[in-house]
Amino acid sequence: MSEFRVELKKVIDDSYNIEIGYDLVERLMNDIRDGLFGSKHRFVVITDTNVRDLYGERILNELKTIGYGADMFVFEAGEKSKTRKTKEEIEDAMLEKGYRRDCGIIAVGGGVVTDLAGFLAGTFGRGVPFVNYATTMLAAADASVGGKTAVDTPLATNLIGLFNQPKKVYIDIAAWKSLPKRQLISGLSETIKHACLADVSFFDFLEGNIDAILSMDKIACEHVAEANCRIKYNVVMQDELENGLREILNLGHTVGRAIETVSDYRLLHGEAVSIGMIAQMKISVKYGYMTVEEFNRVKALLNKSGLPTAIPDYIDREELVKKLYTDKKVRDGKIRFVLQKGIGDVVEFEKGVFSAPIEESLAREVIMEI
Ligand SMILES: NC(=O)c1ccc[n+]([C@@H]2O[C@H](COP(=O)([O-])OP(=O)(O)OC[C@H]3O[C@@H](n4cnc5c(N)ncnc54)[C@H](O)[C@@H]3O)[C@@H](O)[C@H]2O)c1
Repeated sequence: MSEFRVELKKVIDDSYNIEIGYDLVERLMNDIRDGLFGSKHRFVVITDTNVRDLYGERILNELKTIGYGADMFVFEAGEKSKTRKTKEEIEDAMLEKGYRRDCGIIAVGGGVVTDLAGFLAGTFGRGVPFVNYATTMLAAADASVGGKTAVDTPLATNLIGLFNQPKKVYIDIAAWKSLPKRQLISGLSETIKHACLADVSFFDFLEGNIDAILSMDKIACEHVAEANCRIKYNVVMQDELENGLREILNLGHTVGRAIETVSDYRLLHGEAVSIGMIAQMKISVKYGYMTVEEFNRVKALLNKSGLPTAIPDYIDREELVKKLYTDKKVRDGKIRFVLQKGIGDVVEFEKGVFSAPIEESLAREVIMEI
């Protein structure tokens, strides 16, 4: 018998830049020329059918013009494509084209693209580098930053994935201009969530500037992009792997993720989170962590933004209660909620614990009320 010890202590520096600006394709090309991907000379652009013509083709052509090898892989736009099957199809197509560990991946699109491509990058050839070029407000506000990557399963959203940090994130505010209004509004939901959990002055700003943001006022949109990044990376820097604090980013997501699946993705992610925000606030009010006035203020902002605050009639509420048990936060068979404390803070239930078990009867009561 013999025993060997494999010493594998690691010091990892996964730091990266987030660049916020307008029309950042040239910046991306300059960064690649300057060695963002080291000496790699082959690139894979992953995008969806809507973003292909808006940004994908252009990025592909610029890469080729500079002299790199590049191909684009496109999947059908929408949450229903965020699956293992889509990932597998792209992987097979990449292998077919001869890509191995020698490539870098450029994810161009909204959160569906960045989640799927980031996961794919983490497993392709046991991991190749990637960047996110975020083209939706939701991806800018949340999905493209922080290193959570995943695909959905028939049971629930985001159940299979990796923590995988990009080499850089590009937040192109100009891209929001071509977003359908409903998608822009959906992006505001994670923005309002950030304000609710971390920054009351940002909440005040949103109350006063929703119309300016929806009409793409430059200064208002830049403020939104910067505040979202600041709030998110402040959390992620302290708890990258969600051992404690990072749970707070799940505010509104216990009911939100469940209702997104039960609606069969008729509700967009941000719309589902908006309804989930109402659910967690109702519980917060019942426990005395929020006043009714604070609840009404947040609800009014969600409504003013055009986000839904009631459960649509087509949702089977009992099915929704059952679906709460597919949430990643479930522990010892108990549904857990992150709860808001006033506006701009969350409840820390004990040191480093930011979610609490909630009885099914209370969750059901709240779901029946909304
Ligand atoms: N990883 C994370 O931390 C995290 C956080 C929040 C949300 N998410 C995920 O993000 C996803 C939602 O993101 P999303 O709302 O960006 O979804 P999305 O990627 O589906 O984009 C929304 C729609 O807008 C289109 N689109 C994208 N950019 C466009 C542009 N510039 N102009 C016109 N149309 C454009 C897309 O084709 C799509 O139809 C969900 O899957 C959610 O789970 C991930």
